[in-house]
Amino acid sequence: MADAVTAPRQPVHLADYRAPAFAVDQVELEFDLHPQATQVRARLHMHRRSAGQLHLDGRKLKLLEIRLDGEELGDNSYHVDEAGLTIYEVPDRFTLETLVEICPAENTELSGLYMSGSGFFTQCEPEGFRKITFFPDRPDVMARYRVRMTADAQKYPVLLSNGNKLAEGTENARNWAEWEDPHPKPSYLFALVAADLVAVRDEFVTMSGRRVELGIWVERGDETRCGHAMESLKTAMRWDEDTFGLEYDLDVFNIAAVADFNAGAMENKGLNIFNTAYVLASPETATDTDFQNVERVIAHEYFHNWTGDRVTCRDWFQLSLKEGLTVFRDQEFMADQFSAAVKRIADVRLLRATQFRDDAGPLAHPVRPASYLEINNFYTTTIYEKGAEVVRMYRTLMGREAFRRGMDNYIRDNDNSAATVEDFFAAMQAAVPEHNIWQILRWYDQAGTPEITFEETYNPTNRSFMLTLRQHTNPTPGQESKLPFLMPVTVGLLDENGNEMLEETLVFHQAEQNFVFSHIDKPPVASLFRNFSAPVKLKGQSRERLAFLAAKDTDLFNRWDALQQYASAALLEAVAAHQAGRIFQLDAGLQDAIAATLRQAPRDQAFTAEALILPSESLLADDMAVVDPDAIHAVREAARATLGAALRDRFNSMYWECAKVNPADHSGPAMAARALKNAALAYLCAAGDVPRAWEQFNQGANMTDTLAALTQLADKPGEKREAALAAFYDEWKDTPLVLDKWFSVQARANAPDTLARVRALTQHEAFDLRNPNRVRALIGAFSTNQAKFHDASGDGYRLLADMVLRLDETNPQVAARLIAALGPWRRFAPARQALMRTELERILARGKLSPNTYEMASKALA
Ligand code: TRP
Ligand code: ZN
Repeated sequence: MADAVTAPRQPVHLADYRAPAFAVDQVELEFDLHPQATQVRARLHMHRRSAGQLHLDGRKLKLLEIRLDGEELGDNSYHVDEAGLTIYEVPDRFTLETLVEICPAENTELSGLYMSGSGFFTQCEPEGFRKITFFPDRPDVMARYRVRMTADAQKYPVLLSNGNKLAEGTENARNWAEWEDPHPKPSYLFALVAADLVAVRDEFVTMSGRRVELGIWVERGDETRCGHAMESLKTAMRWDEDTFGLEYDLDVFNIAAVADFNAGAMENKGLNIFNTAYVLASPETATDTDFQNVERVIAHEYFHNWTGDRVTCRDWFQLSLKEGLTVFRDQEFMADQFSAAVKRIADVRLLRATQFRDDAGPLAHPVRPASYLEINNFYTTTIYEKGAEVVRMYRTLMGREAFRRGMDNYIRDNDNSAATVEDFFAAMQAAVPEHNIWQILRWYDQAGTPEITFEETYNPTNRSFMLTLRQHTNPTPGQESKLPFLMPVTVGLLDENGNEMLEETLVFHQAEQNFVFSHIDKPPVASLFRNFSAPVKLKGQSRERLAFLAAKDTDLFNRWDALQQYASAALLEAVAAHQAGRIFQLDAGLQDAIAATLRQAPRDQAFTAEALILPSESLLADDMAVVDPDAIHAVREAARATLGAALRDRFNSMYWECAKVNPADHSGPAMAARALKNAALAYLCAAGDVPRAWEQFNQGANMTDTLAALTQLADKPGEKREAALAAFYDEWKDTPLVLDKWFSVQARANAPDTLARVRALTQHEAFDLRNPNRVRALIGAFSTNQAKFHDASGDGYRLLADMVLRLDETNPQVAARLIAALGPWRRFAPARQALMRTELERILARGKLSPNTYEMASKALA
């Protein structure tokens, strides 16, 4: 390995947690906003909680003034370095005043105070506040904030911060405004916006009858695309009252949309800041998936008001305490809006595609990591989605009512404070004193996906059925051996006709455990882990059994899953045959199962659309001892073409049946019909009916249908592809969120020239490394294109590493995230392994690397 590795900063360990030595009671901030030189005056009213020096975090701050209780501090009474400010002696109670200068215009990291489009925006989670002023920038320091800001009245007419507006005015062509947030909060929830935005306004009356003013702030011209976000917000506010008894606690709730944003959105108290991608939606510009994502993310951030803001995290190791819980809440919300089974399927698909992949490789980490170099690297599907699975297991084990009591305990006992995973556990345990559930805590500290095997014994003499379950979890970095997990196993027993004999939730907590069911009159077929009752891999189901469950299971999730598992087994068998040089032949059972799925389409269109999607190439890869991306790709494509041809008539009639739906209708049934129509389109195109896609593209009925058609056309080199891409570009070149789709469609394409096109697109005039959405649309999307990213030449890996290195200079958070795609390198044959490793080493060899990228690349190689 090359030697010029940057010296990393020291890792932070959970075991080293110490309560803060000083508390901040009140914060007064004054911003004099100018792009090149913004001055921030901070008055911190503080008191001592334990012995020790006063250390405040601070990064890239130019200190102009410093006063302790009004007295200017001499040079030898404090010290400033790259990490912050230390004051050698302070009294037990004091006011510290600092004045610093920062440069928002040059902040390309998009954390702290930065500029985007028409104005100033902040992003403080997790450690951005220290780039604004000197402060104990840790979530267990909660304070009340009062903010005054001044900015050019013409350029930045709208001035927003957390809480309620106290006053505003204009002086010397500059506007000023004062905001006060009555709720104590950690610094990561601070927010400020100063921009030329317009508001879409509405109001919400809470369950106790309080009127809340709602505002969604966007660039002029985008007002027409905010209706869905506003409706979603009101629906989410009502849902949290109805479901958890949680009411909004301020008189104002604002959302500001920004085009340059590192993540999806941010739950700042009373002033959420959103990536425009999760606010703006109209049928012409947004797909049905976009509409659902807007609703989900609006709900997610709103739900954080209680699970995140009122009850926050003691330290960043507890991140999943707010994120896992809030994802669980948004999943439940979405399940209540549409179909619960289909929502569950989509969530499990995501978990398996990313979390299971990470959990099986060098980047595996527990839901509560023990250490980190850069906390920004831990906003992962493990913290979010696996964390949500752990919350769901609590509920499945406890039952809905007890879980609700546990939630009430949690909020009541931790309100206005910074909590831990143990606090959440204690609140839940107190709701079920008769059961000891302590072992569930192992899910927070042990990484890895448990693998489950089972055995069944039927005894006709005493009419009993015994189920034996075994669990095993492979080692993960730093964790050689694992203790058994506690998990709920929801089991259904079916008779030979698929009639349900019983359903029960078992508590499985040992390495091996027997469960006996009595009064079972005939040998049953067990449907295990119904509704995905635990985040595990269930092994050893025969094809015969899977075919039966795919056809008969009364649990919709498991019916889908059985078909997926069946398809995986059949396709992997075909992959082996392909590797042995045999010609592709479609498994007859798979064709039968897909045909059967099509027959039941009229009963549940949303479910059918999901069930028709074959396991993705990367999911198939996860089940191969040595991944062969070319063979997987060839086989999966051949299967789609064969199915499309064999079932052409049915796909055709389904297509036309579903095409009757109104293109502007965004109700659940309309979206389901479109999903099914476009699933049919994909099969028909796989079987050669490309003109169908061309026709659909030219109808331009709405973005869902246009994009589905363009996706098909992008796979087939030729005139139509070029014409469609050019037309789409022409129409949407000035609409950034739609232009992102133009990049993504090409990055995900199945075409022979995808790699070359993606390389060329990095030079396109509309490609912009400064805009995270654009980077994700091209590079992020490309890295999920299994067959093309893993091109045998290694050019895909090289392209990714080139982008990581360039991006690391301006935006390390976004750069580091791209590296996860190289994590699974050990799973490939030696040639690809070497190519992937070479790129990771090339990244590490860069002399000056951010801690973000350093941590990801070095861990991926370890
Ligand atoms: N807390 C945000 C959420 O709701 C995540 C987030 C927003 C974030 N902006 C960020 C994470 C910037 C890291 C960096 O999930
Ligand atoms: Zn969140």
